[in-house]
Amino acid sequence: MGILHKLKQFAFVKLRILKYNSLSSCKQVSGQPKLYHPLLLNGKGKISFGKNVQIGVVNSPNYYSHYSYFEARNSESEIVIGNNVSINNHCSIEALSKITIQDDVLIGINCSILDNDGHSLEIDNRLSGTPKSAEIVIEKNVFIGDNVTILKGVTIGEHSVVGNGSVVTKSVPSNVIVAGNPAQIIKEIK
Ligand SMILES: CC(C)(COP(=O)(O)OP(=O)(O)OC[C@H]1O[C@@H](n2cnc3c(N)ncnc32)[C@H](O)[C@@H]1OP(=O)(O)O)[C@@H](O)C(=O)NCCC(=O)NCCS
Repeated sequence: MGILHKLKQFAFVKLRILKYNSLSSCKQVSGQPKLYHPLLLNGKGKISFGKNVQIGVVNSPNYYSHYSYFEARNSESEIVIGNNVSINNHCSIEALSKITIQDDVLIGINCSILDNDGHSLEIDNRLSGTPKSAEIVIEKNVFIGDNVTILKGVTIGEHSVVGNGSVVTKSVPSNVIVAGNPAQIIKEIK
């Protein structure tokens, strides 16, 4: 690696990683992911990383721009990430209840995992009410393509694949490929 490349990495990547680290406000973080991309960790809850967790991918889209955003909003909210998990650039994981990502999961760029509605659905309480929320579990060895959204209450069974651009609104069994909006089973994996 030449000196010019090292300087560019420092100026355009490492400094941004430090910047978002210093902006992070979550006080209950455990484990240390390998950061190849800026990550902002917010909220009053717990965020835990297992061993060998990678955030960001070099020379993937959004590598020199954007950041990833994980938020465990309230004191009882939780994000649990297992071992050997890789999460590509510009993803958001927002927990009001709990989001669990088990071992060996791969997540593409621009994905959003959101265990709540963000606002109350009641007409007079949009800003003041509590949004509906339900736990999300992404089981072992799941592969999630780029630009996927996973919504509240979903469990994705182990080894399953979620196709590019899918919106997952209902739980997915193990060993299948789902795709589309709303995501439907398109194949079984042997
Ligand atoms: C879901 C996926 C794995 C399916 O691949 P495949 O098994 O080769 O499936 P096929 O291309 O044979 O498609 C099967 C059917 O599903 C549909 N389909 C495939 N991917 C789809 C998607 N993302 N959304 C909606 N429909 C999809 C196809 O149109 C086809 O429909 P048809 O049977 O009516 O013709 C693949 O399309 C995909 O999204 N890969 C992930 C890419 C990605 O984002 N990678 C991240 C970077 S590492």
